[in-house]
Amino acid sequence: MAQKTTELYRGKAKTVYHTTDADKLILHFRNDTSAFDGERIEQLARKGMVNNKFNFFIMQKLEQAGIPTQAEVLLSDDEVLVKKLAMIPVECVVRNFAAGSLVKRLGVEEGQALTPPTFELFLKNDALHDPMINDSHVVSFGWATAEQLAEMKQLTLRVNDVLSRLFDDAGLMLVDFKLEFGLFHGKVVLGDEFSPDGCRLWDKASRKKLDKDRFRQGLGGVVEAYEEVAQRLGVPLD
Ligand code: C5P
Repeated sequence: MAQKTTELYRGKAKTVYHTTDADKLILHFRNDTSAFDGERIEQLARKGMVNNKFNFFIMQKLEQAGIPTQAEVLLSDDEVLVKKLAMIPVECVVRNFAAGSLVKRLGVEEGQALTPPTFELFLKNDALHDPMINDSHVVSFGWATAEQLAEMKQLTLRVNDVLSRLFDDAGLMLVDFKLEFGLFHGKVVLGDEFSPDGCRLWDKASRKKLDKDRFRQGLGGVVEAYEEVAQRLGVPLD
């Protein structure tokens, strides 16, 4: 098994390490929770563990559905071995219901169903507050080729199909989510993470928010909500 060596990159919620295998990295999920492009950061006990196990569970479900992911081996409570991807600096966002920046941008009502779901692209750049971009920006600036972008979009919509059903079966609405992709030996592969830090999940009956909006909006019970989602999906936490 590949062993952890030096730090490659410290993100807002995860630290990435090189390993003895040039094709593998280790992601360490920390308890740090950030909002507003890192302006607000707090430590939330158990969050690293919950997100690591939640992410691995989701990535396994996606692999079973034929979606290539970087996840390889769950190593410990807060670490996972992954394929080393050359990350594409573009965030793919799908929305099934209006919320967050869409509501602000277009003045629509929160919770409005979006049929078909919307697909949006954002540039991963904290200093610029992740500006919205379009397909031609991605290709013209060389962040991805037209073929890679088409693959990212198709995979993102497939992820939405798989996960919307998975969460629906657990009594949850997958409101929206963000994905990041990278290249592994030239192939487009799902990277980063899928956890309640990067999606919106509402209880179907009460529409209670069970995701990072609890942190962004100061609603409290953040990790408790993540644990409730994990428990409803059957993610083994202990
Ligand atoms: O803020 P906005 O409404 O555009 O976010 C859409 C979805 O993407 C939300 O689920 C949010 O958690 C996620 N997101 C993210 N990281 C970002 C921006 C958005 O995980 N930098």
